[in-house]
Amino acid sequence: MVNWQHIPILAQTIKELLITDKEGLYIDGTLGLGGHTKILLSALGPKGRIFGFDKDANAIEMAKENVADSRLETLNLSYTECAKVLAEKNIKGVNGALFDLGLSSYQLDDASRGFSFNNQGPLDMRFDTKQTLTAKEIVNTWPADKIEEILVNYGEEKFASKIARAIVLAARENPIETTWQLAKIIENVCPRTSKTHPATRTFQALRIAVNDEFGAVKEAPKLLEKILLPKGRAAFLTFHSLEDRIIKQALKDLCQDKESWRLVNKKVIEPSWQEIKQNSRARSAKLRIIERLK
Ligand SMILES: C[S@@+](CC[C@H](N)C(=O)[O-])C[C@H]1O[C@@H](n2cnc3c(N)ncnc32)[C@H](O)[C@@H]1O
Repeated sequence: MVNWQHIPILAQTIKELLITDKEGLYIDGTLGLGGHTKILLSALGPKGRIFGFDKDANAIEMAKENVADSRLETLNLSYTECAKVLAEKNIKGVNGALFDLGLSSYQLDDASRGFSFNNQGPLDMRFDTKQTLTAKEIVNTWPADKIEEILVNYGEEKFASKIARAIVLAARENPIETTWQLAKIIENVCPRTSKTHPATRTFQALRIAVNDEFGAVKEAPKLLEKILLPKGRAAFLTFHSLEDRIIKQALKDLCQDKESWRLVNKKVIEPSWQEIKQNSRARSAKLRIIERLK
């Protein structure tokens, strides 16, 4: 079996700033391979617990194996379901919640998931493989204006119109089945001019659209009012400016009510150069933490 890896980012900082009660209950909204959860559990006492959510059933299985701790309960659900889950379990609230947004290195590196133009694979990109919408469906059946819209809104792609038209024209000739086919179509209309592959933003936009990532991200801060106990904290780790903007604004909106919310870090926290050197995925990470006061 392949030993998939994902190095948790800013893990020590998150552990120090998120845990306010060692015997409390926490939510890891994006469990992944359990990297952050394992570190959080190392700081929790015997009664401390974590509910780990992930839409990806494979990730959940791997996290269970990696973490191997009875204080973790896994849930193969979107984190947007967490308030409902707490209500069903008659739990009033949690002491902290972590949202490490986006996809994990394991998903990116697994060619069969179709997330990366570096690996030849089917154009899939689903976190939850039970859902029906795939990237293949978008590129082969959506009209050019809808594809352009997601390239602009989820990828900030300068050449959105050109790329969307090329995708639709190519799909008319032959169905676009694989990551390399799509990358080639994009390269043909947008030749490589820098270190960044011209398909980077299109792949990001498709992934966000397939998984309705922004729908969930917009929901997350609203959930805090339902799930956090007083003195409870929530940490958001974002990886691109679009995602960070949504979280920054939503937390600012909550903090309008100064008696109920405060930002734990006024200035966004970024990984050190040492961490970035060891883990290049950390380079774009931004951490924001909010506390519920009452
Ligand atoms: C950056 S990874 C998390 C890595 C994890 N912190 C670790 O240390 O291993 C993000 C994970 O969130 C999951 N995910 C994305 N959107 C989700 C959602 N709405 N609900 C639950 N899980 C989600 C992805 O499937 C992926 O496994």
